Amino acid sequence: MRSAPPGSAESAADLTPEVVIHTEGLTKLFAGGVRAVDGIDLEVQRGDVYGFLGANGSGKTTTVRCLLGLVLATSGRIEVLGEAMPRRGASVLPRVGALVEGPAAYGHLSGHRNLVLQDASGRRPQGQLGGGRKDRGDRATEALAQVGLGAVGSRPVRGYSLGMRQRLGLAAALMRQPELLVLDEPTNGLDPQGIREIRELLSALNRTGTTIFLSSHLLAEVEQLCTRIGLLDRGQLVLQEPLARLRAPTGRVVVVSPDAARAAALLGGCVEHRDGERLLVKGAEPAVLNARLVSNGIRVSELGPERRRLEDIVEERTRRRSGEVPR
Ligand SMILES: Nc1ncnc2c1ncn2[C@@H]1O[C@H](COP(=O)(O)OP(=O)(O)OP(=O)(O)O)[C@@H](O)[C@H]1O
Ligand SMILES: [Mg+2]
Repeated sequence: MRSAPPGSAESAADLTPEVVIHTEGLTKLFAGGVRAVDGIDLEVQRGDVYGFLGANGSGKTTTVRCLLGLVLATSGRIEVLGEAMPRRGASVLPRVGALVEGPAAYGHLSGHRNLVLQDASGRRPQGQLGGGRKDRGDRATEALAQVGLGAVGSRPVRGYSLGMRQRLGLAAALMRQPELLVLDEPTNGLDPQGIREIRELLSALNRTGTTIFLSSHLLAEVEQLCTRIGLLDRGQLVLQEPLARLRAPTGRVVVVSPDAARAAALLGGCVEHRDGERLLVKGAEPAVLNARLVSNGIRVSELGPERRRLEDIVEERTRRRSGEVPR
């Protein structure tokens, strides 16, 4: 950790991360007794890319709707950008770019026109002028280019594919260069190339200071993009931790070798598990282990510290019984 003189502005900034989304005991019951969100305490800090995970029906979209004031929580407290929601929505929402399941647009209008209209009808931060039609037009053009719709922005939205509509929803979220993006499955319906483009866009936005909260089912994407993970299981938050901590080395070393049998014989009881050419070795330092294997004439194709995969972590923490249909 960097050191700074006690009491200096820098040390204060370093030690007290600004909380951008904070909930306490957030609960949402739907008619019929469905406990969609069950007492969750979320904490998203400025600069995070927060990955909000959970199976179908676990409560992600409902949580996002509560955060944005689109549905009223049954109980609990919500603060977004330091202000109480939904009470302070008029000052909070203009600073937030949001994309929630199934973004709506007028089919007979172009993507560009839809963005200009949505922006013109939206609320904006206190003291900030909305800009004229030309300004909005320029920002719409820029947002369309950011999401890869530059070439089709003038075409009617009714001719857009699912992935193009999703990109348009993302463009709408970007229109006001928000400090916080709340995105419910932003890559829903996108092809692999599109998923990569959006990942790169979100990564670039985060580098320039945008905090991002996104729900997703794509664990590989989350693993590449997110700094912090929250996992919902049947409405309950069963995990909330920095990804780096979750994926810290386990202390074991993975070795892949075409001479795995000889390696196992050499290392004896240190080998915890062997699966074909792959060995899991405990109590060893990677560089030392590598030198020992190579000096004994054992070929090494891969060697490195073992890290747990997000997929395994999610599976372990989720109580879902196999074959059970979500509520
Ligand atoms: N308007 C509603 N009325 C009644 N129940 C609802 C309503 N909206 C959601 N639910 C229920 O709340 C639970 C959580 O749904 P939610 O849409 O938040 O899940 P999700 O995690 O977003 O799922 P998915 O991954 O499929 O998008 C589900 O049991 C769902 O049936
Ligand atoms: Mg959902």
